[in-house]
Amino acid sequence: MEMDETQHSSHIDAPGLVFSFFLKYAMLLTMKVLGIESSCDETACAIVEDGKKIYSNVVATQIPFHQIYKGVVPEIASRKHAEWILPVVRQALAEANMTMDDVDAVAATNRPGLMGSLLVGLTFGKTLAWATGKPFIAVNHMLGHLYAAHLQNDIPYPYLGLLVSGGHSIIAKVNGFDDLEILGTTMDDSVGEAFDKVAKYYGLGYPGGVIIDKLAHEGDPKAFTFPVPKLDKRGEHRYDVSFSGLKTAVIHQADQFLNKGYENTKENICASFQETACRTLTSRLFRAIDDTGLKTVVAGGGVAANSRLRALLAERTDIQCIFPPLKLCGDNGAMIAGVAYHFLARGDRSGWNTSACARIPQFKRGLANLEAFGRR
Ligand code: KG4
Ligand code: ZN
Repeated sequence: MEMDETQHSSHIDAPGLVFSFFLKYAMLLTMKVLGIESSCDETACAIVEDGKKIYSNVVATQIPFHQIYKGVVPEIASRKHAEWILPVVRQALAEANMTMDDVDAVAATNRPGLMGSLLVGLTFGKTLAWATGKPFIAVNHMLGHLYAAHLQNDIPYPYLGLLVSGGHSIIAKVNGFDDLEILGTTMDDSVGEAFDKVAKYYGLGYPGGVIIDKLAHEGDPKAFTFPVPKLDKRGEHRYDVSFSGLKTAVIHQADQFLNKGYENTKENICASFQETACRTLTSRLFRAIDDTGLKTVVAGGGVAANSRLRALLAERTDIQCIFPPLKLCGDNGAMIAGVAYHFLARGDRSGWNTSACARIPQFKRGLANLEAFGRR
């Protein structure tokens, strides 16, 4: 029921006036955002207040539907999103014990990702916002991954961001939630892609990252000496990474890199591959730490769940490395709602004509200072 303020205001005493002012102020500052994520193979929705308090965070994974193909099939992914989006959004509202009346804004990922998948969440989000008269915000998926660690930590800017997912490997100087200077990216495959392809080749299962991480615990990282790419140390690629050479070595030339006295087991291959992949990332990241003097690193993306990567970064006691909790490393709606809150607080809105975009070309180039990184 709506209160008619004008009717009651004359009866309010001084403490009551202060209280009602406080209540109104607090209500104005509090913003609950419903965030939708559908860029790849998770249909996800969360409700987050003020970019921090997670009321619900529903992630419906399509992994069983793609597993038999050993990778994401885009057509299946978009069909599953279309089937699941409404129940997932309803479940997020139910788990938060809310209706759309309690929600102040709607957000959805609009890039980068699989075009068909993105379009489902984006179109649903825009329609829901329009039909309920709420503002809409489109969010860059990688800003979401970066924000995941902020959901449970207050992290001051600037810092170095390490964004490692199935589609991207990015080292960036982060000046604000949407202000990133890309220092390094991959020259070819992303790190997550390398994990997935190695797992696929050896028939370990899909998605590969978590399986390799597990098998690696039983293997010896010294069994194979796989090559670490040597991109130029001083030039424009000094923070860039590359994984296709490593992937090829692990898949097609493993025996050539097997060390004396070791066996060619899948555990040893996983441990050695993982060690090289993680050291490839940390070598560039440590270079960026030394050059910029920034001592805080914030990681995000599916590969940020990797136990060896976490251990290697923990070895550097002179830096603070902040990882999201495991359940927020992969794709989720909370990170999208979190980013959207900051756009909204700044007064930004996305137009109803906002479209989806599969790629952000600059992610693949070194030293690109992306002024428009977070723009929609
Ligand atoms: O962020 P994400 O869920 O989706 C994308 O935005 O791509 O990342 C998925 C990637 C996959 O390549 C998956 O194999 C990898 O993250 N991944 C891991 C681990 N868990 C997921 N890679 C290495 N170690 C893990 N524990
Ligand atoms: Zn992702």
